[in-house]
Amino acid sequence: MNTLTQLIDTYAEKLLQAAKTAQKQAYAPYSEFRVGAALLLADGEIVNGCNVENASYGATVCAERVAVWSAVAAGKLSPQNPPKALAVTALPCALCLQVLSEFAGADLPVLVAAADGAEGGYRLFYLGDLLPQVFRLK
Ligand code: THU
Repeated sequence: MNTLTQLIDTYAEKLLQAAKTAQKQAYAPYSEFRVGAALLLADGEIVNGCNVENASYGATVCAERVAVWSAVAAGKLSPQNPPKALAVTALPCALCLQVLSEFAGADLPVLVAAADGAEGGYRLFYLGDLLPQVFRLK
C-alpha cells in the first residue's frame, strides 16, 4: 500500500458509512435501486446525497449529483473548498462524473462500496480513470 492509499484508508470507513446511511434515504420507488453518496470536502466536511426518482423518469437525479448540488447550495462546496474524495454505493454514471469534474480533478479518489468483499469493503478508482476526457467550454 503506498502513501496515498494509506491516506485514503484513514477516512474510507467513515466516508463509506456515510454513503450507506445516505442510501437509506433514497427515494427510488420506480427502479427500487437505492444509491447513497458521500462527498468529503477539503475542509473535512462530509455532504451526503441519495437518488431521488420521479414519475417523469427523466427528472430523476442521481445520488452523486444530489450530493454535489446540496454541498453547493449549502455554501460548502466551492473552488476554494473542493471535494477531497467521494464514496458511493454504486459506480457513478457518466453524467455524474462530468458534474464531479466541474469541481474536482482527475486525482479525486472515488471509493465504490463493494458487495463482493473486496479488501477494505470498497474498490478505489480515480475520477480521471472513470472519465478520462471531460467536456469543457474552454
Ligand atoms: N443512479 C444514481 O443514483 N447514481 C448513478 O451514478 C447511477 C444511477 C440512480 C438513478 C436511478 O434512480 C437509479 O439509480 C437507477 O438508474
